[in-house]
Amino acid sequence: MKLKIVKGTRDLYDDAIVPFLYLEKKARHIFELYGYSEIRTPIFERTDLFAHGVGQDTDIVGKEMFLLEDRRGRSLALRPEATASVVRSVITGNMMKQNNQKRLFYMGPMFRYEQPQKGRFRQFFQIGAELFGVATPDADLELLLMLRHYFKSIQLDNVSFQLNTIGCHKSDCRPAFKEKLVTYLKENQDAFCENCQQRIESNPLRVLDCKNESCIALTENAPRIYEHVCDDCRDHFNELESLLELHQVEYTKNFRLVRGLDYYSGTVFEVYSDNLGAQNAVGGGGRYDRLFELYGAKSIPAFGFALGLDRLALLTKPVLPDKKVAFVICNDRAKATEIVAKCREAEWVCHYDPFQSSMKSQFRQANKSSANLVLVLGEDELKTGQISVKNMQTGEQVSIKQEEVSAYLQK
Ligand code: HAM
Repeated sequence: MKLKIVKGTRDLYDDAIVPFLYLEKKARHIFELYGYSEIRTPIFERTDLFAHGVGQDTDIVGKEMFLLEDRRGRSLALRPEATASVVRSVITGNMMKQNNQKRLFYMGPMFRYEQPQKGRFRQFFQIGAELFGVATPDADLELLLMLRHYFKSIQLDNVSFQLNTIGCHKSDCRPAFKEKLVTYLKENQDAFCENCQQRIESNPLRVLDCKNESCIALTENAPRIYEHVCDDCRDHFNELESLLELHQVEYTKNFRLVRGLDYYSGTVFEVYSDNLGAQNAVGGGGRYDRLFELYGAKSIPAFGFALGLDRLALLTKPVLPDKKVAFVICNDRAKATEIVAKCREAEWVCHYDPFQSSMKSQFRQANKSSANLVLVLGEDELKTGQISVKNMQTGEQVSIKQEEVSAYLQK
C-alpha cells in the first residue's frame, strides 16, 4: 500500500503550525475582550442542516460538500462552514431562553470539495464569531470593530473591508430589485458566460460577482442593490455607515458583493488582501436575520463572520514571546535526566541527548538547538557537584552548585 495524503489536505507541524497557534491565541484574547465565548460544535452534522441553511442552489451545498452515510443510511456532511452548526446549537441548546443576546466564537477545520490552489484547500481552517439577538446596526459595528482590532493585534496591514447590503425578503426590497436586475441582465442574456445565463434564472444576484471579465463589463451599469432596498434596510445601512465613519473604519461599498451563501439579508461584507493572489478573500460575513425562522425556530436577528486561517497564516509574521530554552550536556543518564527534570519544573523548555553521544556531539546539538542556556556536566563537574552554565546570547559562563540549579533558573 502506498501512503499518500488526501488531495487538498495537509499536515501542519513545526514552522507551519506556528502562525496557526499564534492567530488562534490572539483571536481568543481579542474576542474575549468583546464578551465572546468559545463554542465547539461537531465537525459533522445532518446534511439537511447545511442544505436548508446555506442553500440548496449554492456551490457549497450543490457541489462542495463531503458527504457520509452512517450505518443506518442517514446522510451526514462534514461541515463546509460553521454558522449553520452554531445556529443549530443555539436552537437545540435553548441558549436564547435565558438571554436576549449571545456572543460565540469558534475555530476549527471546515471541508469543501474545491479545486486546491494557493490559499484554497479541501480541509481548511476558520476562525469565526456570531452575535445573536441584536437587530440594530450596533451588532454590525461591533463585529467590524472587533475584526479591525484583531487585525491590528496581529499587525495585519493591507487588508480592505468591502460592504454592501443585499436587502431583505419584503416584496419592495430584494424581490423587487431582483426583477429590475433580471430585466437589465436579459437585455444582453446571450453575451453572458454559460454559468451566468443559468444564474439569471436561478440566482440573478450571483451574476454580479462572476469573475469573468466580459460578465463584469456587462454588469458595470447594472442597478446597484444598495440604491434599491426598502426604507428599513436603507436606514439600517445608512446608520451603520455613519457609525463606521464615527469610528474611522475604512471601507468601500461594493455593489457586486452578494456572498455565496443564501442565508444573508441586509449588511454583507468581505475582507480582502492584495498579497494573496487569486484567493484574496481573507474573510467574510454579514447579517442573517432569517436563518432561525428557516429552521422552524423563533426568529432571532444575527450577525457574524468567518476568517480563513490558512490565508491569514500566509499574511502574518507571528510575534512570539521569548521562550526560555535550555540544553543539558551530560554523559551520566541519571544525572542528566535529574537536571532536565529540574529545568522543566522551573518552566524552561529543556532538551538533552538521550543517546549518550560523545560530549563533542552533544555540544554540536546544543549549538543547533537555539537554547538560551547550555548546562554542562562533564567529568569535572560530576566529581565536584557543580554545573557550568553558558549563556548562549552573551557567551558568559558561570559555575554553580548542582543543588542550586532550580534557584538559578528562577532568577
Ligand atoms: P465564507 O466566505 O464561505 O463564509 O468563508 C469565510 C472565509 O473562509 C473565506 O473568506 C476564506 O478566507 C476562507 N475559505 C473559504 N473556503 C476556503 C477554502 N477552500 N480554503 C481556504 N480558505 C477558505 C462563511 O463560511 C460564513 N460561515 C461566514 C459567516 C459567519 N457569515 C456569518 N457568520
